[in-house]
Amino acid sequence: MDLKYPKDSRTTLTDLVLPSETNPLNNLFGGELLARMDRAASIAARRHSRRIVVTASVNHVAFNRAIPLGSVVTVEAAISRAFKSSMEIFIDVWVEDRESGLRSKANEAIYTFVAVDETGAPVPVPPLKPETDLEKDRFEAALRRKQLSLVLAGKLKPNDATELKALFKD
Ligand SMILES: CC(C)(COP(=O)(O)OP(=O)(O)OC[C@H]1O[C@@H](n2cnc3c(N)ncnc32)[C@H](O)[C@@H]1OP(=O)(O)O)[C@@H](O)C(=O)NCCC(=O)NCCS
Repeated sequence: MDLKYPKDSRTTLTDLVLPSETNPLNNLFGGELLARMDRAASIAARRHSRRIVVTASVNHVAFNRAIPLGSVVTVEAAISRAFKSSMEIFIDVWVEDRESGLRSKANEAIYTFVAVDETGAPVPVPPLKPETDLEKDRFEAALRRKQLSLVLAGKLKPNDATELKALFKD
C-alpha cells in the first residue's frame, strides 16, 4: 500500500455557532463540538484509508476555552499516525476574531478511527509519513497514546504496554 502524508487527508470544517447549539451561558454546547470534531476526523480518516471508517475511541478532549454564540469556528483534523487498521487523528479547533479575522486556538482533541469492510471487520490502511516537526512529534508519541487507550479500554494488559512502561522507566 502506498504511503500517504498528513496533508493528503487534512480536513477543515468552518461553521457558525447558532443559538440552538449553545448552553445556558450562550457558549457552544460541548456535545455539538464533539460532533463537529467527529465529523472532521471521520472525513480525514476516510480520505487517508479510502474505506468505511468508524470511531473507535475518543482518546483526549480539552475544552480549554468557551466558544461564544455567533463565533466562526474552524475544526482541523489530520492523521497523526496510521497503524494496521487504526488511525490516530489530531483535531485542532480555532475561533476567528470578528474584527481582525485572526484565529486563536480554543480546543483540541485526539480520536482513533478504524477502517472496516462492509461487514464491519477491520481492514489495513496505508502507512503515514510525517513531514513537519509538529507532525513528527505527534507521530512519535502516538504509540504511547494507543497503548494507554487500549489499557483503559481493558483491551491490553498494563504489563504488555511496552512504550508506556518505557516512559516511566526514563
Ligand atoms: C472499532 C472496532 C471496529 C474495533 O473492532 P475490534 O473487534 O476490537 O478489532 P481489533 O481488536 O482488531 O481492533 C482493530 C484496531 O482498533 C484498535 N482499537 C480498538 N479499540 C481501541 C481503543 N479503545 N483505542 C485505540 N485503538 C483501539 C486496535 O488496536 C486495532 O488497531 P490496529 O489494527 O491498527 O493494530 C469495533 O469495536 C467497532 O465496530 N466498534 C463500534 C464503532 C462505532 O460504531 N463507532 C461509532 C460510535 S457510536
